[in-house]
Amino acid sequence: MQEVVLSIEKAIKYLFDLEVAVELTLTDEQFGDYATNIAMRLSKKVGQNPREIAQKIIEQLKDESIEKAEIAGPGFINITLKSEALATMLNQEIQASHNGEYGASEIGADHTVVCEFPSPNMAKPFSVGHIRSALQGWAIYKLMKLHGYAVITDNHLGDSGTPFGKWVVGFQRYSSDEQLNQDGINELARVYISITAEMKEEASAGQSAIADEAQQWLQRLESKDPEAVEFSERFNKISLDHMHQVMNRLNIQTELELGESFYVSRGQEMVDELLEKGVAKNSEDAVIVELDEFGINTPIMLRKANGTALYATTDLATIEYREKHWSPEKVFIHTGEEQNFYFRQLNALSEKAGFKPVIQHLWHGLVDQKVEGGGREKMSSRKGVVLLQDLLDYAEEEARKHNKDGSDESVKAVALGAIKFADFTADRKNGVLFDWESMFSVQGFSGPAVQYAAVRIKSILDKAGVVDDVDFSAYEWKDEKRLIVKLLHYPILLRELHDSYEMHKLASYLYDLARSFNRYYEEHRILTTSGPEKSAKLWTITQVRMVLVRGLDILGIPTPEKM
Ligand code: ARG
Repeated sequence: MQEVVLSIEKAIKYLFDLEVAVELTLTDEQFGDYATNIAMRLSKKVGQNPREIAQKIIEQLKDESIEKAEIAGPGFINITLKSEALATMLNQEIQASHNGEYGASEIGADHTVVCEFPSPNMAKPFSVGHIRSALQGWAIYKLMKLHGYAVITDNHLGDSGTPFGKWVVGFQRYSSDEQLNQDGINELARVYISITAEMKEEASAGQSAIADEAQQWLQRLESKDPEAVEFSERFNKISLDHMHQVMNRLNIQTELELGESFYVSRGQEMVDELLEKGVAKNSEDAVIVELDEFGINTPIMLRKANGTALYATTDLATIEYREKHWSPEKVFIHTGEEQNFYFRQLNALSEKAGFKPVIQHLWHGLVDQKVEGGGREKMSSRKGVVLLQDLLDYAEEEARKHNKDGSDESVKAVALGAIKFADFTADRKNGVLFDWESMFSVQGFSGPAVQYAAVRIKSILDKAGVVDDVDFSAYEWKDEKRLIVKLLHYPILLRELHDSYEMHKLASYLYDLARSFNRYYEEHRILTTSGPEKSAKLWTITQVRMVLVRGLDILGIPTPEKM
C-alpha cells in the first residue's frame, strides 16, 4: 500500500509543492478499495475547494496498480486498485516481513518497555476482578514484542499493606491451621470475605478495633517481627501457588514477580530523602507530596501517621528500580478505572522525585455477566468473589458441550478463546459482558468463531495436498480481492494499535476477516478448481489463516487443531 500512498504524495508535491503524509483508509466495497481525505485536509492551505484539489490529484496520479480514482462527496478520493497488483503487493509485504512475521516492525528496536500484569492482590484468591489486567496486559506485551521492543514483564504482586493485616486478623478469628491446611486458597477466600464484611459493619458503627488490629500486624510485618513474617510467608505461598496455577491455565507468564513487599524498605528510605529535599512534607504525622503545580489538588500520601508504608510508597521505589535497571520508555499498567486518578498522581510524583513520568495506565471497566431474563450484573457480586479457577472450569464445561468429540487440548483452546476474546469485544474502558451463550457461538462475534474459520482453512489445506507455486500474473484475483485488501490492512492496524492501545480493534478485525472468509468459502469453489486458479485460492486462504492464527495469538488465544 505504501507505493500507492507515495504516488499520491508525489502528485501533491508536484501540484502544490507540499510535503504531506497521506493516509488511506479502507472504504465500503461499493465505492472502491481505499479512500483518502487529503484533498479536504489541504483545502485551507492551498486555498482551493476540496473537490477541485481532488480532481487535480486524480489527473496527476500515475500508478500502475490503480484501476480507477474518483471524487466522492465533499472531496474524498476513492481508489480502486487492480486485483492482481494487490495480490502481488500482499505477497511482497509478506516476503519482506520483519523476522519473517507479517505485521512485525522495528519501531521499538533499542527501546525497552515494562508490561506489568496481572498484579493481583495476594490476600484474595485470583478472582475475576483481575482477569482483565491479565488479558489486556498480555495482549499489550505481545504487541510491543512484535514491534521490536525489549519487553520486561513483571507481575507486581499486591503482597503488602492493609490486606495482609486483615488476613491475619481474619485467620485468627475464623480459621485454624487445620482448616487452612485442608482448604488452602478457598479457606483464605472465606476468611477474607468474612473479615471484610465485619470491618465494614464496624466502620459503619463508627468503630475501628479490627482495623487497628490489622494495622498493628502490618507494622509488625514491616519491622520484621518473626510471627508476622511467618504468617506472611505462609499465606503468600498458598496464594502464590494458586495464582501460578491459574496463570498457567490462562497461558500467561511473566518474567519477573517483584511484589509491593520487595519495595517497602527502599520506599521508606526514599520518603526520607524526599523529606530532606523538601519535596515531601509532614502533615499531621503523615508524609505527603503536594501536586498542585500539575493541576492535582489532592496531595499524594507516602507514609501513614503510624509510620507504615502505603501503595504509593512502594510504587515510588518501583519507579526508581525500573528506571535504574531498564530505563523504560513506557511502563504499561492495567487496573480498573478506579485507580485512574491515583496513576495521574503517581506520574506527577515521578516528576517531582526526578524521574520521567513513563506510566501508561491502561485502565478498564468491570466484568459483568448476563443473568437469566437478560439483565446484567457485576460478576463479583453474588458470592463476593468469582474465582478465576471456577470461571475456567465452567468455560471448559461449556466448551465441551459445543465440542463433544474434541480432544482435551481443543476444548481448553476453545474455552480460552471464548473467555479471552470476550474481553476484547468492546473498548476496554467499557465494562465487558460475559454472555455465556454468545461467547461460544461460532456464528457470533466470538473467539470460537474466529478459531473455527482458522480450523476450517486448515482442513481445506490438508485435503488439497501439494500445490504448485503461485503465478501472480496467471490469474485475475477478482474473487479474492476483498480478502486481500483486508490482509493488507493487518500491518496497518498493528501499527495503529501501537499508538492507540485499542486492542479490541484487533478482535473486530479478526472477526471481520473470519466472516469474509466464510462468505468467500460459501460462494466459491476451491478444492474442485485446478491450475493457477487453485493455487491462487489456496495461497489466499493460507494467508487468511496465517493472519487469523497470529492475530489470535496476540490476544493470547491458541488455535485448536480441530473443532
Ligand atoms: N495490585 C493492584 C490492584 O490490584 C494493582 C497494581 C498496579 N500496579 C502498580 N504499580 N500499582 O489494584
